[in-house]
This record gives sequence, structure tokens and C-alpha cells, in this order.
Amino acid sequence: MKNYKIGVVPGDGIGTEIMPGTLEVLDALAEVHGGFKLAYSHYPWSCDYYLEHGMMMPDDGIDQLAQHDAVFLGAVGNPKLVPDHVSLWGLLIKIRREFEQVINMRPAKQLPGIESPLKHPNGFDFIIVRENSEGEYSEVGGTIHRGEDEIAIQNAVFTKKATERVLRFAFELAKQRNRKVTSATKSNGIVHSMPFWDKTVKEVAVGYADVEAESTHIDALSAFFVTKPESFDIIAASNLFGDILSDIGAAIMGSIGVAPAGNINLNGKYPSMFEPVHGSAPDIVGKGIANPIGQIWTGKMMLEHLGEKKAADLLLKVVEEVIADGVKTPDLKRNATTSDVINEIKTRIFGI
Ligand code: NAI
Ligand code: MG
Repeated sequence: MKNYKIGVVPGDGIGTEIMPGTLEVLDALAEVHGGFKLAYSHYPWSCDYYLEHGMMMPDDGIDQLAQHDAVFLGAVGNPKLVPDHVSLWGLLIKIRREFEQVINMRPAKQLPGIESPLKHPNGFDFIIVRENSEGEYSEVGGTIHRGEDEIAIQNAVFTKKATERVLRFAFELAKQRNRKVTSATKSNGIVHSMPFWDKTVKEVAVGYADVEAESTHIDALSAFFVTKPESFDIIAASNLFGDILSDIGAAIMGSIGVAPAGNINLNGKYPSMFEPVHGSAPDIVGKGIANPIGQIWTGKMMLEHLGEKKAADLLLKVVEEVIADGVKTPDLKRNATTSDVINEIKTRIFGI
């Protein structure tokens, strides 16, 4: 029997409402599956913790989390009491950076029973693989002069190492799926880094003769997410392009409340972290109506990462059935509560 150690950080707002039920769902799945167990350590690190201790997590917080096979996070942020840059940089971004989570993975899929804002979603099903450590989001640059002579310089940094790393990850993933990688480029406008990116795509693609590789400019690619989302399998993108595409991906799914994400460590030195795309949703907190699907689907990604693909696939299948049968929270235009959705998923898992 495999026993996985999971560091659980529910965080703030609806993070604390959807996490307990999600853990119950994962436990139900482990019980029915029989081959693995999940051992949780719970960490209360959040804006409440900050208000009490003056920091988002203790000094040895990173060391504590490092003991786990994966980190499972809810959402962070309480903008009325703690500025967002303090809460995000003090916890979320700190974990991503210190644990060298160099890839961000965001699946987007049309789920039966969820209305996409697209007229023709055509059953799209793709994964955005985003470089998560450098690129356009670098700290290199500065400002000089003041007044009308003021100059701001922001340098994008693309290393061979990180570019190859993210592209290999994308091609490997494509091999397990529909064998197609679309690379997001802009080599017609960005004349140094993007030709370098394109060249690296070509080099990496040589090792994957059975995977179709195409390069598409980011502006056209964004439009294709709207007009023909079904044509994509894996999209490989730099930090900025991947960030923007991910939000379109979440939007065309129909609600940010269902979108999952993973921050992946590739060198095995630290755990990866799984967190839904949405934030702490202060506007609906305390009402018991937060959609738990994003957190649960994120749990599915975590199981897959741990090597429990069969259980992971089963979980998504049950989730899809529950949604298709109309057990849905108000963001999906129905009246189910968070616990209604959780209970229905648990019941069906136990019924398998
Ligand atoms: P948000 O994602 O929390 O909310 C945006 C809108 O989507 C709101 O109307 C909310 O009610 C709705 N929504 C989000 N998740 C939902 C769910 N599971 N079920 C039903 N409706 C849902 O983004 P917002 O309002 O910009 O940020 C709120 C706080 O969350 C801020 O402090 C922000 O910094 C933080 N944040 C944290 C993230 C993280 O922990 N990864 C990501 C995004 C924002
Ligand atoms: Mg974003």
C-alpha cells in the first residue's frame, strides 16, 4: 500500500470552505481504490495567520512543506485586510520559487453540462504548459531619470536550459495524449527571444518524430482559442503568453470555479504544488456556495502526478457525471451548495 504525504494549505476565503470536502472526496477514492492512502498535514498559513503573526508562514514553513510528496493549496488572499502583494508573495509565490516549480500546467476541457460562453466549443480538451521561472517575468531591468526623461527597461530572460526543459515536458505530455504540440511564438515582433524559442522548439521536436509540432503567433493563437479550441492538444508557452492563454482557457470552460492547475518541480528536490486557478472569492465567502470542482479536479492532477492515474481518471469521470446530471453550484446556474456537490461525488464514488 502506497502512503503519500500531502501538505495541505487551505488558505483564505473559499479555500477553507472547499478544502475539507475535497479531502473527503480524495479519501473516498483512496478507500474504493484500495492501493494507496493519503496522509495529510494541515497548515493554517493564510491572511488570518498573517494578522496574528505578521507573516504568511513561519520561517521554517518551506522546510516543513518540503517533507511532503505534494502540496495541496486552496486559495490565498483577503484584500480588505492584507494587501494582495503581501499575501501572494509571502506564501504562494514563495513556495513556487523556493520549490523550483518551473512548469505551470493548466488543463482546459469542455465538460458536458457546463455552458461554455463559446457558441461552438466542439468538445475542446487541451493542456497549457507554461514556463514558470523566467521569460518576460524577470526581475532584470530598472528605471532611470525622472520627469519627461524617465525610462523604464524590463528585460525578458530566456535561457537554453529553461526553454528546453519546458518544451521537453510539453512533448512528453503530448506523447501520452493526442501527440500534438502547439508552440506559442511571436517571432515576427519579438526578434531575439522568440526566434530563439522557435529554434529550440525545432531542436527538441527532432527527438519526438511521432509528435506533430506547430508554431503559431500568440495573437492568432488567442483568437483560435475562441474560434477552434478543439484543434489543440498541448500548448507550450513562455511565462507571459502562458499566463494570458490560461485565463482564456479557464474562461471558455464556463466558470473559473472549475479550472485546475499544477506547479511542477522537475528536479525531484522539492514537492510540486497543486492549486485551483481561482482565488479566495471574498464576494461569496460564508455562503456555502463555492464551486468545489476546481479544487477536486486539481486533486485529480495531484493524484496523476503521484502516479495514481487510474484513480485520477475515475475521479474526473465521476465529476463529469455529477455535473452532467445538474448537481451544480450557482456559478454554473444551478442551486446546489458546496456540500451538495461534495456529497453527490462521494456517494457515487462509494457506489462504484
Ligand atoms: P477570484 O478568483 O477569487 O474571484 C473572481 C470571481 O469568480 C468572483 O466573482 C468569485 O465569486 C468567482 N469565483 C471564484 N472561484 C469560485 C468558485 N470556486 N465558485 C464559485 N465562484 C467562484 O479572484 P479575485 O476576486 O480577483 O481575487 C480575490 C482574492 O484572491 C484576492 O486576494 C487575490 O489576490 C486572490 N487570488 C488568489 C489566487 C490564488 O491563491 N491562486 C489566484 C487569484 C486571486
Ligand atoms: Mg494569470
